[in-house]
Amino acid sequence: MTDAHVRLFRQRLQTWFRAAKRDLPWRRDRSLYKTVVSEIMLQQTQVKTVIPYLARWLETFPDFAALAAAPETLVLKRWEGLGYYSRARNLHALAKKIAALPAPPRAPEDWRELPGVGPYTAAAITSLSFGAPDACVDGNVIRILARVTADATPFPNAAAAIKKLAPLARRLLPAKNPGAHNEAMMELGALVCSKHTPLCPRCPVRALCAAARSGLAENLPDIARPGMRRQTRELLWAVKNGKLLLRQIPADAARLAGLHELPSADVPGLPAAGGPPLATQRRALTRHAITENVREIPPRALPRRLPPRHFWVPLGKLGAITLSGPHRRLVTRLLQTSTSNP
Ligand code: ADE
Repeated sequence: MTDAHVRLFRQRLQTWFRAAKRDLPWRRDRSLYKTVVSEIMLQQTQVKTVIPYLARWLETFPDFAALAAAPETLVLKRWEGLGYYSRARNLHALAKKIAALPAPPRAPEDWRELPGVGPYTAAAITSLSFGAPDACVDGNVIRILARVTADATPFPNAAAAIKKLAPLARRLLPAKNPGAHNEAMMELGALVCSKHTPLCPRCPVRALCAAARSGLAENLPDIARPGMRRQTRELLWAVKNGKLLLRQIPADAARLAGLHELPSADVPGLPAAGGPPLATQRRALTRHAITENVREIPPRALPRRLPPRHFWVPLGKLGAITLSGPHRRLVTRLLQTSTSNP
C-alpha cells in the first residue's frame, strides 16, 4: 500500500463511519468506565447481547468506585448469563486497582498489566478514551487487512495472521483521532467486511481492496481452524474446441461415485501446470481444510491418449452432466471469467 493509499483508506473509512455507525450505548456520553465495561463485555459476546447487560450493570455499578466496593456475589449476579465469568472477576479486580490509584493509567502498556485486559482491549480503551496511538488488531481487523492486500497466506492459526498483519494495522492508524479509526475498523468488520458474506459493493474502501477487485474476499483470510488438517489440491483447466476436460469418479469410489470433477494434476500421465491459479476455492470436508487451485494447461500439453475416465465434454452439455457441488461452482465461475471460454 502506498502512502497515498493509506491516506485515502483513512479518509474513506472515516467518512463512511460518520454516516453509517450504529448508535450504541457506549458511544453515547462516552466515559472511561463505560468504555472499559463495554469492551470487556464485548470480548466474547455479540453487541446485541451486551446492550441490555451493560444498561443493568451501569445502574448497579455506575463507576469504578461503586464496582470496587461491591461484593463479588453481586458482581457475578449482574454478569449472570453473559458467560466467561472470569471476565466479571477480572473486571471487579480491575476496578479495585483503578479505584486505589490517584488517576487511571493512560498508556496501553499500563492497561495491559491489568486483569482481563489483552492487547486488543488495551488499544480500544486507550485510543477511545485518551487518543492513544495504538491499533486494535483482532479477527475482524485481520479479515479486513488480509482482504485489502489479498493476502492468501495459509496461516496455521489466528496468532500467525495477527503477527503478519499487525504492522499494516499500525500503519493505517492515523495520529489524529486513532480511537475513531479503531472503532471504524470494528464497524467495517461488523457491518460490511463480514466473514461469510462480505458486502463489497457497499464498502467505502472497495477501490483500495485487492480481494474485492479479484472477487476473492470471501476466501480470505485463510486461517486453519484448530484440529483441521490442511490439504491443497491442484486441479487442471483445459478447454479445446469448445470442450472441457473432466474426469469421472469411479463407480466404486467411497465418495461422489459416478460424479464428474475437474481433473486432478496428480493423475499419472497428466502434465503439471504452472503459473498463477485461474481460481482458488476453499472448503471444509470433515477434518480437512481443502484449498483447490485450478490452473490452466494448454490442450497441446496433454497426451493424445487421455488417462482412464478422462474425457472432453462440450461446454453446451455441461448442464446435463453431474458435477460435484464444489466443482460445479468452480466451473460456473471460470466459464464466466476465463479467457479460455470460446
Ligand atoms: N467490539 C469490540 N469493541 C467494540 C466497540 N467499541 N464497538 C463495537 N463493537 C465492538
